[in-house]
Amino acid sequence: MSQPDKKIEKLETGISGLDSMLDGGFNEGRVVLVLGEPGSGKTILCSEYLYYGATQKNEKSIFIGMNEPKSRFMQETFLLGMDFYKLEQVGSFAYVDATEVRRIPEQAKVGRIPVGGRELGLVNLMDMIQEGIEKYSPKRVVVDSISDLVFRYPKLEERRPVVLDLVETLQSTKATCLMTSELLSTGEGRLLQPEEYLAEGVVIMRTLQKGVRSIQILKMRGSKVDTHARPYVINENGLQVYATEEIY
Ligand SMILES: Nc1ncnc2c1ncn2[C@@H]1O[C@H](COP(=O)(O)OP(=O)(O)O)[C@@H](O)[C@H]1O
Ligand SMILES: [Mg+2]
Repeated sequence: MSQPDKKIEKLETGISGLDSMLDGGFNEGRVVLVLGEPGSGKTILCSEYLYYGATQKNEKSIFIGMNEPKSRFMQETFLLGMDFYKLEQVGSFAYVDATEVRRIPEQAKVGRIPVGGRELGLVNLMDMIQEGIEKYSPKRVVVDSISDLVFRYPKLEERRPVVLDLVETLQSTKATCLMTSELLSTGEGRLLQPEEYLAEGVVIMRTLQKGVRSIQILKMRGSKVDTHARPYVINENGLQVYATEEIY
């Protein structure tokens, strides 16, 4: 039976300005894309989301890292005051190293070794995600970043099913998932990326003129959100979003 009145649970990020833009947080069970320029703070935002859940809400969190090995992630987040080592020790956090995706030879793509409709490298990745999630049953999941994976498929018609596969794999876990991707173009008339269509929510992070950082919620299905671009800063405490300020 569907329960239309059932209140949607919100998962706070712990970044107060962002939580107020999100009307409390991310909707439970959704897959949200964090899209941004390199260095815009995607990894930091996602780490804070996981860290807050694990430390403040007792929610298990996993980070599926395609960009960097575990040691780098642990060190960099530690510098920002997040002790993921400790969370790992007590079993409330796990890092799934998926960097091998970057090493899948290009021939795998050209030669295509399909297994059940997926090429081999992709099978491995989806398996890795599924195994990680089944093993830990997390409430919060981050996949950072999907760019190396999707850019292997320059043709849109190839990229779309890959992203769909990923989104459906994440949805099937019932966790509230963030995936990050590099923003390819900005400005009026920019090209929408397939992951934007397929994710249930999109947050975009970029740097404007004079170095002003801007965060905006482009879409968030099932939520009343603030869709204005808002300024944010990154400092030794992580991300700070100014939810009541305008971008000039
Ligand atoms: N202690 C700090 N003070 C100020 N800025 C910082 C600090 N630590 C990291 N940053 C900023 O965070 C950015 C990196 O964030 P990150 O989440 O790794 O970006 P992305 O994942 O989008 O590439 C860098 O551009 C840097 O400017
Ligand atoms: Mg990053």
